[in-house]
Amino acid sequence: MIEVRGARVCITGGARGIGRATAEEFIARGARVWIGDRDLPVAEQTAAEIGATAYALDVTDEDSFRAFVAAAETDGPIDILVNNAGVQFMGGFADQELAAMQRELAVNLGAVLTGVHLVLPGMRLRRHGHIVNVASMAGKITTPGIATYCASKFGVVAFSRALRAELAGSGVTVTAVLPAATHTDLTSGVRLRLQPTLTPQQVATAIADSVCHGRGEVTVPRWLAPIGVVEELIPAPILWWLKRFVGGAEYGGYDATQRKGYLDRIQQG
Ligand SMILES: NC(=O)c1ccc[n+]([C@@H]2O[C@H](COP(=O)([O-])OP(=O)(O)OC[C@H]3O[C@@H](n4cnc5c(N)ncnc54)[C@H](O)[C@@H]3O)[C@@H](O)[C@H]2O)c1
Repeated sequence: MIEVRGARVCITGGARGIGRATAEEFIARGARVWIGDRDLPVAEQTAAEIGATAYALDVTDEDSFRAFVAAAETDGPIDILVNNAGVQFMGGFADQELAAMQRELAVNLGAVLTGVHLVLPGMRLRRHGHIVNVASMAGKITTPGIATYCASKFGVVAFSRALRAELAGSGVTVTAVLPAATHTDLTSGVRLRLQPTLTPQQVATAIADSVCHGRGEVTVPRWLAPIGVVEELIPAPILWWLKRFVGGAEYGGYDATQRKGYLDRIQQG
């Protein structure tokens, strides 16, 4: 069990949204927090406001990730890594640029592998560490219009589960956190209709709590935990009807004006 008070915590994508809320939550619980983000000005502003340390980080660049981890470790070994950085493009798969889809996969899934690969040797040696991989309910429920996002999040859930089994008894725990739709820039302009929605703070609480209970998978909200079973067991036509009822017929649709700022940001680089 890791004592959060005094723990060293690294959070990727910590400049805003769920990452920022998570940083605030850990700081409120007495941890020391490093946030890495490709948007350095916002990360620095966030860090100044909440009492964290900001670092320039592109999670898709191994050297950049290594430098982030090394910078945090000048203060001592990392106790907790939160792989949170993520992006989401929307729309018909064939209508979107392949390069953007490959980048989405690299940020949402590839970088999770990189982060774990960088911190795990030290954690195993110390027999002490906790890793949180921020997945999504899209890692249990497939949704047309975000096929690549679903692929990345199913990947994060599967990776986390296999890794957790591999690390059993090692002193290192792994939790995949699967939030429902959350009010951040990532969902700006998205028509969420009847989907359950969350604040970033609710997700942050679930992430920080996982250090204490160490469970393998945490859905937010908790009552959505059986949703993967529903996806597997319900016949496809009924599932389709249900998804249309909850999410609307226009999968991958969004208000382009409201989403423009977000898309401009994630399309860079
Ligand atoms: N918002 C939701 O509805 C929702 C639901 C479930 C899961 N999630 C997941 O939660 C995580 C955080 O999402 P959010 O909603 O807070 O999004 P957000 O856009 O508000 O914040 C994401 C942060 O990640 C950073 N980032 C993006 N690419 C990066 C890169 N290559 N290197 C470093 N930093 C990078 C961005 O600059 C941004 O600050 C993501 O993994 C997302 O998939 C979000």
